Amino acid sequence: MNDQQPAILANSLTKRFGDFTAVEDVNFEVRRGEIFGFLGPNGSGKTTTIRMMLGLMKPTSGEVNVLGMDVNGNATRIRPRIGYMSQRFSLYNDLTVLQNLNFYGAAYGLKNQELQENIRDALVMAGLEGRENAKTKDLSGGWRQRLALSAAILHRPEVVFLDEPTAGVDPVSRRAFWDLLYELVSTSLRLPPFSEKMGGEKEGGGAGVTVFVTTHYMDEAEHCHRLAFIQRGKIIAYGSPAEIKSGMMRGQVLEIAPSDAVAAVRVLRAAQESGSLPIEEVELYGSLVHVVAPDMKRQQRAIENTLRQAGIRAEHAGIIEPSLEDVFISAMKA
Ligand SMILES: Nc1ncnc2c1ncn2[C@@H]1O[C@H](COP(=O)(O)OP(=O)(O)OP(=O)(O)O)[C@@H](O)[C@H]1O
Ligand SMILES: [Mg+2]
Repeated sequence: MNDQQPAILANSLTKRFGDFTAVEDVNFEVRRGEIFGFLGPNGSGKTTTIRMMLGLMKPTSGEVNVLGMDVNGNATRIRPRIGYMSQRFSLYNDLTVLQNLNFYGAAYGLKNQELQENIRDALVMAGLEGRENAKTKDLSGGWRQRLALSAAILHRPEVVFLDEPTAGVDPVSRRAFWDLLYELVSTSLRLPPFSEKMGGEKEGGGAGVTVFVTTHYMDEAEHCHRLAFIQRGKIIAYGSPAEIKSGMMRGQVLEIAPSDAVAAVRVLRAAQESGSLPIEEVELYGSLVHVVAPDMKRQQRAIENTLRQAGIRAEHAGIIEPSLEDVFISAMKA
């Protein structure tokens, strides 16, 4: 394995359930050492794709290669080199933090000193030192997620698959979880490559852990090094956040803080439908309105006038860098 070889390569991956296509012709590459996000709404095919990458489910067609191996034929060989935190991750709630880590470590075949060392590292990484004896059920959702992540990487996998690790967690804990992921892929927490640990030839050249993470929170897209956005089984955006923004946006975004945001959206959508304003999108973001138009520099004045004529003051209107959320909404409507 060399550094150039991708951690994961999905080639025309397709999964059908009867005549329903859950994943359709999905292609992507995950580079070693990156945090790759797999974003999509509920039921878009994220978990199905992960299951195929783990060798838990056979693709209907196409193939997936993880760490240089075709998963289809090598699921058991690849297993020790990957970690998996499933969507409804399964910690034992009646066990303590330490008992859970011991359980998972033993399940991965860790023993004695290595098990103890890895557990100690895991506790430090998750910030759970001093809570070893807390019952898992008494931890908050955010802490349980950190514990589940530590359990999934106890055996020092090279690639870790996290299926919606932040679902249902408050924004502060979500942020903390992402910080933990950055630590995981950063050199400060670089874990020895599997082959080195096993006394084999040193491979990989020391890239950090590779993280494949799914989420339905669009704001988390900005945290990924690169990402794919999947909708109804198909990838509709792929690349780094900057690449996706520059490649996909059908115009520029005007951000307005109107005196009445809901009324502003109604007025602008009506103007869009009647054809009096050549704009592409109007979206409400709390008290702000985002308008997308192909030639915003020329449209801004007309948009402001339209609002003014409807008795709405358009304060702080300015062209902004689109967020990925803007881009996805724009792409999903295309
Ligand atoms: N074993 C199965 N048999 C039939 N349909 C399935 C099966 N597994 C998944 N599906 C369907 O395939 C689609 C994709 O499901 P999947 O679980 O991959 O989505 P997801 O993106 O992970 O969604 P969520 O965000 O809800 O977890 C859904 O419509 C789902 O109902
Ligand atoms: Mg899922």
